[in-house]
Amino acid sequence: MDMEEMEQTLVFLKPDALRRGLVGRIIGRFERRGLQILAMKMTRLTEEFAREHYAEHRGKHFYEPLVEYSTSGPVIAMVLGGKNAVRVVREMMGETFGSESAPGTIRGDFGLSDRYNLLHGSDSRETAREEIQRFFDDHEIAPMNMDELEWIYDLTGSEPV
Ligand code: RTP
Ligand code: MG
Repeated sequence: MDMEEMEQTLVFLKPDALRRGLVGRIIGRFERRGLQILAMKMTRLTEEFAREHYAEHRGKHFYEPLVEYSTSGPVIAMVLGGKNAVRVVREMMGETFGSESAPGTIRGDFGLSDRYNLLHGSDSRETAREEIQRFFDDHEIAPMNMDELEWIYDLTGSEPV
């Protein structure tokens, strides 16, 4: 099987998800979708780290409050793996603004705020690579569990289906 098909993405649960006691329910959604948790840790973003992570938004009106928010308490960061993991996770998250997110999505089911929107997910394969490296050392990331994969995908051909 071509493991290139298996993508990794970086998710972190933002401080509001921890404060509101939503951690288990959010992670449970990823698990039951069949995404594998390849790394996970609870940490607190330093101001420098948050500024770097959100550098693409530097200068925008919401940049300073965003840095303030994302450093305001502990976060739980994880690497999730699966077919099309980047897009799948973004779809499960919903729109950026809670008030515009569809029911059935994480932001659409658990929040209404346009800023306190519970979690971050990488927005492309390339960003995922950078963000995973920013949050984790290589040795902290487990390989995909192949035994479990066999029950999530049909692996008998040249690619997982
Ligand atoms: P994220 O990067 O956290 O996964 O969220 P996203 O891609 O859906 O949204 P993005 O455009 O990257 O914005 C980053 C975070 O900034 C806050 N935000 N506030 N107009 C506003 O006040 C505003 N717009 C964005 C949100 O916390 C958003 O997740
Ligand atoms: Mg973003």
